Amino acid sequence: NTIIIASSHVVRARCLIAHPQTLPALFGLFRQGFLPRDTHIVGYARTKMDQAEFEKRATSNIKGADDPETANQIEAFKQRLSYVSGGYEDGESFDKLNTHLQEIESHYQSKECNRIFYLALPPTVFIPVSQHIKEHCYVSKGGVNRIIIEKPFGKDLESARHLLLDETFRIDHYLGKEMVKNLLVLRFANVAMGACWDKNYISNVQITFKEPFGTEGRGGYFDEFGIIRDVIQNHLLQVLTILTMERPDIRDEKVKVLRSIPPVEKEDTLLGQYVSANGKPGYLDDHTVPPNSVCPTYAATTLWIHNPRWEGVPFILKAGKALNEAKVEVRIQFKDVTQGIFKDIARNELVIRIQPSEAVYLKMNAKTPGLYTRAIPTEMDLTYKRRFTEAKIPEAYESLILDTLRGDHSNFVRHDELDYAWKIFTPILHWIDGKNGQRPKPSPYPYGSRGPKELDGFIKKYGYKRADDA
Ligand code: BG6
Repeated sequence: NTIIIASSHVVRARCLIAHPQTLPALFGLFRQGFLPRDTHIVGYARTKMDQAEFEKRATSNIKGADDPETANQIEAFKQRLSYVSGGYEDGESFDKLNTHLQEIESHYQSKECNRIFYLALPPTVFIPVSQHIKEHCYVSKGGVNRIIIEKPFGKDLESARHLLLDETFRIDHYLGKEMVKNLLVLRFANVAMGACWDKNYISNVQITFKEPFGTEGRGGYFDEFGIIRDVIQNHLLQVLTILTMERPDIRDEKVKVLRSIPPVEKEDTLLGQYVSANGKPGYLDDHTVPPNSVCPTYAATTLWIHNPRWEGVPFILKAGKALNEAKVEVRIQFKDVTQGIFKDIARNELVIRIQPSEAVYLKMNAKTPGLYTRAIPTEMDLTYKRRFTEAKIPEAYESLILDTLRGDHSNFVRHDELDYAWKIFTPILHWIDGKNGQRPKPSPYPYGSRGPKELDGFIKKYGYKRADDA
């Protein structure tokens, strides 16, 4: 295999090649023995640099390099690396890349050479670069070609349609996260879970993404996209589809769920933007953000799935920057106990914490120990660090790059899936962008807070009950 990483990031940040996690992930696969022996990694970007400089940059994000064993492995990994500089628009540069690839492959034992092209590039050059790659760099016999691209996959339904290339692996790195992959096992390998996984037992579901930092110099990109395009339309929607689809085939079933979700309504959406607090800058204080921008850095939005399993259950997706903590979780709240002697008690909740500190816990009621019968809320707790003490949880990119090496598409975004995902969000995004009138003003929230003050009321509206509401 030859993995070609075409990147624009080398020129933007001094020490980065491609996504900061791509090369560490390849190194992770290498050290665990998952990179087949004849596998070489070629960096390709406009910046001119020699082999030594490339090796330095390519390994600069690897953690634990001061450990002697890791340092030895890094040295061995460097033997797999090389670099070609070239443009994105001219065929000659891609011919040069192809000659370099042929030279490497002439040393491989197998004559079947696969080439994987990882485009860590702005979407504006996806199309011309893929065309050049197809024309100048595809292996034509005895091997396969694969192209990996990363979001943003367009800005709305129409712009995404230009990107519907075939043979592409569209990465949504949430699909490589351990706990997102675990959702399938929790649902389909447990009779007890499967039995209550529908509108008869579940009252509401929240999928939450919280980050404790703001845009911090990334405001140029962020302001053009906003929080819905940045994480909700892709990462959180992926979690929702896996949570709600029928038994796999995974890609077909995910599409069926998306087709059952109508476009988000503005009445079901809450927008926020962080302001300066506790010495931390507000969104508008970031010099890369246009003055007076009304771009939302927080959004909560409720989706409805119109199918027999989920009719009437609200799915609240909420995401924000500059909040009080780092956390991504799914919170499934079950309905009230309505009959028998136990009333006014807390609801069951199943919480799947995707990060940090992966965990699954079920909030349930148990009898208070003692000579009288009273129910108190308690938890059945599966925190991974405690239960799987020896396990190394793979990085999302390790898992997804390995899938690409194996040619397994199941954890990548299919073109029709992308189309339906945009259909759900395009009208609300056009409203936020002010396409048909004034742009809505987001509600301000202090840096480091839980989000806009309207949040608790918003969630309550969809039936969420806190334990102390019982
Ligand atoms: C990216 C977004 O897709 O996901 C970032 O562009 C966000 O804004 C990141 O910070 C979150 O990824 P993770 O793996 O840190 O949860």
